[in-house]
Amino acid sequence: MYEGDIASVLISEEQIRDKTAELAAAIAERYPNGAPEGDLLLVGVLKGAIFFMTDLARALPIPTQMEFMAVSSYGSSTSSSGVVRILKDLDKDIAGRHVLIVEDIIDSGLTLSWLIRNLSTRNPASLEVVTLLRKPEATKLEVDVAWVGFDIPNEFVVGYGLDYAERYRDLPYIGTLDPSVYGG
Ligand code: XMP
Ligand code: MG
Repeated sequence: MYEGDIASVLISEEQIRDKTAELAAAIAERYPNGAPEGDLLLVGVLKGAIFFMTDLARALPIPTQMEFMAVSSYGSSTSSSGVVRILKDLDKDIAGRHVLIVEDIIDSGLTLSWLIRNLSTRNPASLEVVTLLRKPEATKLEVDVAWVGFDIPNEFVVGYGLDYAERYRDLPYIGTLDPSVYGG
């Protein structure tokens, strides 16, 4: 599938599965008896986080509920500008809820810091972040990310929810994209 487009497999299906189990165990320690005020509310950022979110929810030994948000950051297709627009907002009020933002990848962190500020104003009981992937730029950030799956090099990656021009999300692993795909 997608022959010639993927330069290398960065993180295999098995590595993703093992890491998801590890993250789920760590997250469960933070909410020992589940979230006290209603179930833990996973907030996924569409569309990239969907695969990670559904696998994480099934790996978590505590009850969770799911909500989704879609945001768009203005800028080129392979980098973000920090100007964020809500394309789809949460369907429910999160006041008093324990919220866990589920992210696919943090690059500059601009999208995430905007999201944290936005959700904080809605008065959740708690607000934490888990991300499957983190790029080097993000480590400079002030943003507090409780759980990180993998720190990856500063390369454009696709698969397991991550896209380039809406393609490659369906790959079961995370790979680097051959520069020929985006005209490199
Ligand atoms: P920032 O810079 O705001 O960007 O942390 C986060 C969003 O940018 C997208 N992004 C990527 N998408 N492969 C992708 O498919 C990548 O390597 C990549 N790096 C950043 C993604 O939408 C993420 O939520
Ligand atoms: Mg994208």
